[in-house]
Order: sequence, then structure tokens, then C-alpha cells
Amino acid sequence: MLFSCRSSSRPSAESPRDAGPATPIAEFAGAYPADAPSSSAVKSYDLVAAETETALVDGTVMRVWAYNGTVPGPTLRVRLGETLRVRFTNRLPQPTTIHWHGVRVPNAMDGVPNATQPPIAPGETFVYEFAPKDAGTFWFHPHLRSSEQVERGLYGVLIVEDPKPLPYSHDVVWVLDDWLRDSRGQIVEEFNTMHDLMHDGRWGNAITVNSNTHERLVVSSGDRIRLRLLNSANGRVFKPDFSGIDAKVIAIDGMYLREPIEPKDLEIAPGNRVDLDVTFAATESKSVAIVDRFYASTPNHLADIWIDGIATPPPFFESPAHAHVPAWRGALVTAVDQEFRLNARRGGPLGIEWTINDHAFSAHEHDHPAAVTFTQGRFQHLRFTNESYRLHPIHLHGMFFRLLARNGSAVDEPFFRDTVLVHGKETIDIGLVPLDLGRWMMHCHILEHAEAGMMTMIGVVPPSGG
Ligand code: C2O
Ligand code: CU
Repeated sequence: MLFSCRSSSRPSAESPRDAGPATPIAEFAGAYPADAPSSSAVKSYDLVAAETETALVDGTVMRVWAYNGTVPGPTLRVRLGETLRVRFTNRLPQPTTIHWHGVRVPNAMDGVPNATQPPIAPGETFVYEFAPKDAGTFWFHPHLRSSEQVERGLYGVLIVEDPKPLPYSHDVVWVLDDWLRDSRGQIVEEFNTMHDLMHDGRWGNAITVNSNTHERLVVSSGDRIRLRLLNSANGRVFKPDFSGIDAKVIAIDGMYLREPIEPKDLEIAPGNRVDLDVTFAATESKSVAIVDRFYASTPNHLADIWIDGIATPPPFFESPAHAHVPAWRGALVTAVDQEFRLNARRGGPLGIEWTINDHAFSAHEHDHPAAVTFTQGRFQHLRFTNESYRLHPIHLHGMFFRLLARNGSAVDEPFFRDTVLVHGKETIDIGLVPLDLGRWMMHCHILEHAEAGMMTMIGVVPPSGG
């Protein structure tokens, strides 16, 4: 295997920092695996994307685009070791694809139109099939005209269960989103407006959890739940305040942490997932409000948790957050392998282009060669310099990374990510070891920014001479 101790300690002529026991590569060994566990079991789902009407937000009947008629779409579950097979049919008035955000899939299953597959035309069916390599909380959404298609309601959660799921009292999914609605309560059908493009994408006027402005979770005292959060909004960042409950973060972007941490100052950018391990010990019934404080001066109510004070002791088991996550303390002083400058300029089909190293990706009409190439199994130190004042949650397909620094100051987040929020004028450094071969997208997950060009392709190639 690529990451056995044997191969990782092998001296490398090309890059001396890949050799020796304290190298980033040696530290990485034992993090996440190169391959999926082998198994022959297949879990099959049928998924249909279509226009539909459904009671959403505050009970108003809204015209949406949905997977299997619901927003969020159905939560797909597969056990680690099983193969997921999704027979997908497009009944939308537009071509589409499905991208499995955060899942390390074979490149051909990644859902990137004209790069990993042709767009799926209206009326067509495409079968996605892959065996996940990591257990955790992932999601799926279109990768074509996504600023419109995701906004109209096309997204769902994919849960890859541990081989032996822990005995939580409940496993709860909260999908955070916002909607820009007109006076009749319908989706404003003007997408990629100049305002949205110039700012942080489309921010709505109704915030929902599971498409509900008044989401309420009822638990009993003594319950220990796993609460899985996803931000599926086009542009809005959430910073939920969990100080009213006993919650620990156990996973970010699907992957377990090195150790559980407090959910303090947690910014959940578009695309991010956060898994919480929550224990309710109250002896009297009470209700706790969960509030978003991304902008401290304008808090947003997200949901209520109603705790029923029936006292039973919570189930006891060790936190699952004990993954091997490299500290990569020495990595920050290594040479930067690749810098990405994020900026905007006038021009392009939408009037403004969002650029990575002065290039704007022209939507998905044709294939794009990889702008940058990484070698499989080799540590990469990347730097993102945000030359603009806007937010850019940068997402990489097909690989996880660890934040090394913000504005040059070392940060030891005890977890991997697939999406990191880069604030206005901020510089961040990340480290990663790509394991999965193929051409993978890197883009801003503010979908209007992506649509206006802030996307690129990264090639991961095998080491030459192996
Ligand atoms: Cu969720 Cu390419 O994105
Ligand atoms: Cu952006």
C-alpha cells in the first residue's frame, strides 16, 4: 500500500522533506486510507430530480426543484464497506449532474460536467456507483448551474455509517439554508445578480433548518444524540451558538477529529459539515434556542431544542473523535508548493469575473485541463491569498486538507477539512496529501463566485517511476 511505513520511510530523491520519520508524509501515515474496505454488498437508491411544489419555510406552498419530491432530498445511508449505487433520472428542464461533496469517489463518479462525465440531459438517467472510503456526513448536489439548481432546492445528505455505528439515542440531521423569496413566498427567479456576484453570493430573507423556519427537535433528558449539520446555502455563513447545550464537535467535513472539542466560534461556511455529540442531562423540561451569530449585531434564530425532563442516564461510550490527524508543526516553514491568489475583475459573461491566479473558469461548457498537478502521496503546502474583501469558502474535490495557518500564524485545527472559509484580505496556508488519482475541482463554494469563474482543476498523478 502506498502509505505503509515501508514506502513512507523510503528516501525520496525529489523532495528531501518526504524522507525520514518526522516528515509530513510520515506524520500523515495512519490518517485516512488510500482504499475503501472491500465488500460485495450494494445499497441501491433511485433518485429523481424534478420540479415540484411543497410546503416549505413557514408552511407556504413553494415551487422548488427537488430530489424525490422533498427539500432537503432523501438522506441516503450506506455503511462503510458497502457500495452505493444511485440510479439518477433528470426530470428538470435543464441538464444537471450530481456531485458527492466530500466523498473520495473514483474520478468518473465526481459529477463534474464535461470533465468527469457529460451533462445529464433532461429525461436521461445516469448511474453513480462507488464504495466510500471514509465514514461520516457528506452531501450531494448538482454541479451544473449550481447557483440556480442548489438554490431551487436540489441537495441532500449522504451518511456513511461506521462499520459499527455507536449507540446514540438519535441520529439527527440539520440542513441549514436560506431562501430569497418574493412577496408571494416564491423563490426569486433572478439568479447571479450583479449584487450577489459583487458580494458574498445570494443571501436569502428566510433562514431554515430542514426547510423549516421553526425547526424543533424534541429529546428526552438522558439522551445522547449525534447532530449532523450541513450548510447548503449558496453564500451564507452560519456561526451557531451552542452554549446552551452540552455539545462537543466530533467531526468536521465528515472526518472524525483527533479529539472532541468545544463548538465555540465555529463558522459553518457553504459546503461545511459539523457533527456534534450532544448529551442532555436536564432534570426539568426546558427549551433551548440555537441562534446564528455570524454577524453578532443581527443574530438569527435557527431552531429550538425541547428537552423533556424524564431522567434516565445517558448512554456511556467513548467519543469517536480519536482519529489520527497529523499536527504538521514543521510544515508551515516548508516552501509553498503552490500559491492561489483570489480576486475579481470586470468582464466575462456575467459582467464580473472571480479569478484564481488571474484565470476565470468559464462555467462548465467544456473541459478544462488541470491548472496545477500534484503527485499522489506527496505532501503539498498550499497558500491562498485573498486579494479581495469578500468571503471565499474554498473547497477541494477528492482530497482532505489541514489548515496550517491564518495570516501566517500557525493554527492546529485537530481535523481535516474539505472546505475552508477564507475571509476578506486573509491569507491561509493548508497542507494535504492527495491519495486519489484524477482531475479534481477546486472552487469557491459561494456558488455565484464559482459560476463567475472562481473554479479550477487540480490533477493528481502517480509518482513518476513509482
Ligand atoms: Cu459542494 Cu464542487 O462542490
Ligand atoms: Cu468566493
